[in-house]
Amino acid sequence: MGNKNKDKVVLITGASSGIGKACAEHLHRRGYRVYGTTRRNPDELPAFAYTMMRMNVDDNDSVEQGIHLILAKENRIDIVVNNAGIGISGAVEDTSLDEAKAQFETNFFGVLRVCRQVLPVMRAQGIGHIINISSVAGLVGVPFNGLYCATKFALEGLSETLRMEVKSHGIHVSLVEPGDINTAMSAHGLETRESACNPAYRANHTAALNIMARDEAEGPQPSVVAQRVENIILAPSPRLRYRVGSLIEQMVVAMKALLPARLFEWGLMQYYRVR
Ligand SMILES: NC(=O)c1ccc[n+]([C@@H]2O[C@H](COP(=O)([O-])OP(=O)(O)OC[C@H]3O[C@@H](n4cnc5c(N)ncnc54)[C@H](OP(=O)(O)O)[C@@H]3O)[C@@H](O)[C@H]2O)c1
Repeated sequence: MGNKNKDKVVLITGASSGIGKACAEHLHRRGYRVYGTTRRNPDELPAFAYTMMRMNVDDNDSVEQGIHLILAKENRIDIVVNNAGIGISGAVEDTSLDEAKAQFETNFFGVLRVCRQVLPVMRAQGIGHIINISSVAGLVGVPFNGLYCATKFALEGLSETLRMEVKSHGIHVSLVEPGDINTAMSAHGLETRESACNPAYRANHTAALNIMARDEAEGPQPSVVAQRVENIILAPSPRLRYRVGSLIEQMVVAMKALLPARLFEWGLMQYYRVR
């Protein structure tokens, strides 16, 4: 297996921490030629085992330059893991347009930018696999994460469509939908500015955030996502969707499809203590 992997070039966006870092370390150990990205200067970060390069997925030029750099070295890109993502929590009413757009810029348009750069390369190769890191929050609306959910719902739609368009060109598209994973995402995330000054939602927002922080802290390590990503890469006929998480999280998605909407919503509000 090691020898075959040696020829496969993998780009992972947002590989400086959490899920992206775990994927990069895991695939590097398995012998893949891994390129990870960060918005920061990699020389100022602790050393990584894999190649780390600067790329801000919010910026067209930065994405274009990053992809060109990999192509100049490798002349191919086999697998892309679109992982870079941010979350800013707050009631929809307390989310400014700028804060909403910032989340879409990274979580949705960032993926689109990378896809538009790599798809011509993959088409020319006649082979490729795009793996988009979505979330259970791309399938189920989570209170006080409205804009984050909206970005992931949008990513789900984009990926479903793209998969059909590129199939005949030898390119696979898959979605990974993790539940709560023990990363620093909440710590990296922010609350919207207006959340601090509007008391209307404070009690419910705080209650829901506490549950989310607990679930993330008690969630599995990001290595479980990395293992799943490797399995997806190795699958002879990769599926569209892969869920990673606890049985309860898997059941929540199934229950959304099965239960009457009102009952499902009631259960979710009870869970997040939203009154
Ligand atoms: N943790 C969870 O429970 C969970 C659950 C479901 C889905 N996810 C998804 O998994 C992905 C990774 O999340 P995580 O939990 O590992 O979070 P994390 O630890 O905060 O890592 C986020 C990564 O994205 C990078 N990043 C952020 N904005 C970027 C930008 N504009 N351009 C390039 N890189 C950028 C960060 O790098 P720099 O700061 O160094 O630039 C960092 O490496 C996200 O898409 C998230 O939505 C997470």
